[in-house]
Amino acid sequence: MKRSVIDTTDLSIAEVQQLLDTAMDIIENPGKYARICEGKKLATLFFEPSTRTRMSFEAAMYELGGSVISMTDAGTSSAAKGETVADTAKVVSNYVDIIAQRHPKAGAALVAAVNASIPVINAGDGGHCHPTQTFADLLTIYREKGSMEGLTIGFCGDLLYGRTVHSLMSAMARYAGTRFVMISPEELKVPRHLIEDVAEPAGIPWEETASLEEALPGLDVLYMTRIQKERFDDPAQYDRLKGVYVLDPEKMKLAKPDCIVMHPLPRVDEIAVEVDDDPRARYFEQTLNGKYMRMALILKLLGYDGKALTGAKDPAGTFPGGPFSFWTEAKEDGDYRCANPKCICAAERGIRHRFVTAKDGSRRCVYCEQ
Ligand code: NCD
Repeated sequence: MKRSVIDTTDLSIAEVQQLLDTAMDIIENPGKYARICEGKKLATLFFEPSTRTRMSFEAAMYELGGSVISMTDAGTSSAAKGETVADTAKVVSNYVDIIAQRHPKAGAALVAAVNASIPVINAGDGGHCHPTQTFADLLTIYREKGSMEGLTIGFCGDLLYGRTVHSLMSAMARYAGTRFVMISPEELKVPRHLIEDVAEPAGIPWEETASLEEALPGLDVLYMTRIQKERFDDPAQYDRLKGVYVLDPEKMKLAKPDCIVMHPLPRVDEIAVEVDDDPRARYFEQTLNGKYMRMALILKLLGYDGKALTGAKDPAGTFPGGPFSFWTEAKEDGDYRCANPKCICAAERGIRHRFVTAKDGSRRCVYCEQ
């Protein structure tokens, strides 16, 4: 059965550790991996802008000896003629062995995964999630701190639309001793489902504040993010909120000597360039770690057994993800319609709306989780 990754929790903690171990081995022994994917092809389907995610996926596949077919501009693909994500996934499955897809609509990755006959990796679906950025983040934390346990992590900036925050919160909630400090303006607070379905069930202590200065002294990791201009319906609201947080050398004086500063990049103005010289800045290391983790993930999904690609079906795999997959729980009834205008369900025809029932009895769309 093919295995896709929509969010980090589609892999168990043990499997995430396996990715970290593989990535560390790739760093130590790159030659060992240089030909494993010979004859295999990756398609990068990017319906939205990207620099490091797409290029690091492509570099990853080349460094494994495989090759890449790339769609970098939805305007030059059949999407411009009205082709759906579902049809594109079926078509591209005929040409390659694995797909990495980025799309502006939440839930587009799951739609591709259920329609493709090959593994699909979510390279970002709207404001929903971005698991491979999280894998890059986890390797960065692991290399810096030696473990993911016992860390207080501060998320700062656009926590509402920042998909990297959503995926990293889900991933970190599974480690013992994690604490969250969420630093944002009122309008950009983290979506409630991440508190209700992720932080609270895991018993994670969390707090919300608007003040970076107040939060900084208590943090082991500061995760800065860009205000996500492209997700705002009202440009005036973006104009009001842009520039709300700027990390500069003066503020860095408030941080612990071993607090690391991360950012998925691109940055706009939320980290002053002077901070780049601070030894605690780790955002450029993150971009390199992303390549190693994407190599490890491609190997896993193509059935690498430690020596070669077996193409073997993953015995742990339940389509499209692992034990945390929404899909197996999903229900359909003729009356249910996802109401989120930013969901793929609102954008494309032919999607059968499916839901899971939340603890409070409300229905949540299986694609966008809203
Ligand atoms: C992030 C993204 O695309 O969500 N970028 C990335 O992949 N490193 C963050 C962002 O765009 O702000």
